[in-house]
Amino acid sequence: MSDILVHTEAGVMTLTFNRLDKKNSITSAMYGQLADAVASAEADASVRALLIQGDATIFSAGNDIGDFLNAPPSTQDSPVFRFMRGMAGFPKPVVAAVCGPAVGIGTTLLFHCDLVYAGDNAAFSMPFVNLGLCPEFASSLLVPQMFGYHRAAEAVLLGEPFMAEAALEVGLVNRVVPPTECNAIAQAQARKLAAKPLTALIESKRLMKGAQQAAVLQRIDEEAQSFGRMLREPAAREAFTAFMEKRRPDFSKH
Ligand code: COA
Repeated sequence: MSDILVHTEAGVMTLTFNRLDKKNSITSAMYGQLADAVASAEADASVRALLIQGDATIFSAGNDIGDFLNAPPSTQDSPVFRFMRGMAGFPKPVVAAVCGPAVGIGTTLLFHCDLVYAGDNAAFSMPFVNLGLCPEFASSLLVPQMFGYHRAAEAVLLGEPFMAEAALEVGLVNRVVPPTECNAIAQAQARKLAAKPLTALIESKRLMKGAQQAAVLQRIDEEAQSFGRMLREPAAREAFTAFMEKRRPDFSKH
């Protein structure tokens, strides 16, 4: 079965991370599938809302670390950047259902969603610094805007997980719900959106987010240049190798 499940019903395209044995970490091939699905959701008039979900135990462990080590993205046309640009410019409403860990891009993609429902077991984290990396997906712009600078600095520079209630307090999630009900609640909200006039949804989202879109896309590119360089540097290589070898990284020389 595919690592990304795509199912469209009642005007809602649902994308489900389905790589549970690897904690829904995202490979380059999965970014390609996600980017293609997002593009088809935008083009297909019968799709009126998008829902992104994992299962009740895990949203996503972020980028596949083996890919970071062995096949890092090399150009701006790499699948991960196609996915980021597709999400950042997606005109229709996007809902997310997040339970369990949401690591790295598992958290940063939520800044590009319109409604976010979290299980009370959700744990968000942006451990880029701990991996010798910097923020991506315009999170260096969007996290300070949403959290305020000091809380953003805590989340980004320390990179420690924060739980669903803290995410609710800073405005990253709309509601905290029981994990076993999270996907169904998010699906119901997405169907409510899908039943509304699409032109009004698109125009309203554009008016709320459009003024910043160029800045978001520009920040995605700027971060990608630093991120791409840092992926190949010794600190990140040590972090990835340590993860694969199930040991603590040694940054004493970096
Ligand atoms: N990339 C590749 N494999 C990953 C992965 C990732 N990002 N996250 C988890 N896995 C794999 C583990 O290597 C392990 O594989 P194995 O069974 O072959 O040994 C399997 O998924 C289960 O992971 P494990 O760490 O044992 O699960 P856990 O429940 O103890 O912890 C997480 C879950 C998500 C907290 C933890 O896996 C984690 O921190 N992952 C790395 C997250 C990360 O740094 N992502 C990059 C962000 S930029």
